[in-house]
Amino acid sequence: MTRIVVLRIGHRPERDQRVTTHVGLTARALGAEGMYLAASDTGVVTSIRDVVDRWGGTFFCQDNVKWRRCIQDWKKDGGTVVHLTMYGLNLPTVISELRTRDPILVIVGAEKVPGDIYGLADYNVAVTGQPHSEISSLAVFLDQLFKGKELERTYPDASIRIIPSKAGKKTGGA
Ligand SMILES: C[S@@+](CC[C@H](N)C(=O)[O-])C[C@H]1O[C@@H](n2cnc3c(N)ncnc32)[C@H](O)[C@@H]1O
Repeated sequence: MTRIVVLRIGHRPERDQRVTTHVGLTARALGAEGMYLAASDTGVVTSIRDVVDRWGGTFFCQDNVKWRRCIQDWKKDGGTVVHLTMYGLNLPTVISELRTRDPILVIVGAEKVPGDIYGLADYNVAVTGQPHSEISSLAVFLDQLFKGKELERTYPDASIRIIPSKAGKKTGGA
């Protein structure tokens, strides 16, 4: 599977904690390796690490990341940078090309993103030209990129896991 890391920019600790945590959890559940957070927020980092401890895997969350340096370093190392924005090229027109790229840094914003991001990204990609959210756009992007394969992933080192059931809630231990 393509190596994916998410770069979350524009995070405002006083109001975006829940959404940013959900960006990280979505990234983890749908096959990304980690999330860089371009802000300081130990609350988000702790919440995500707590999920990883219990539910398994090696997903990382790093805060205090300088977004410009992060993008430059990623490109210097040969990676591709995709910025999710409703102003970009619509996903179906670029998804085949993106499936040939590895690794990919996926940038999602909170409010208005700095204008420089559009020029620094290799691809500005829209998940429809309609406004919605960083969580939904990331989820659709990852599912399209991985063609649904990420839905079959298991976590052998998890200390808690769901036993899928038609009705009721069943969980198991390690
Ligand atoms: C609440 S939106 C803010 C959009 C903001 N008004 C702007 O001008 O970019 C937060 C983030 O969701 C993502 N997003 C929202 N709608 C999108 C779409 N249709 N396609 C791709 N990403 C989208 C983008 O990453 C955006 O930065």
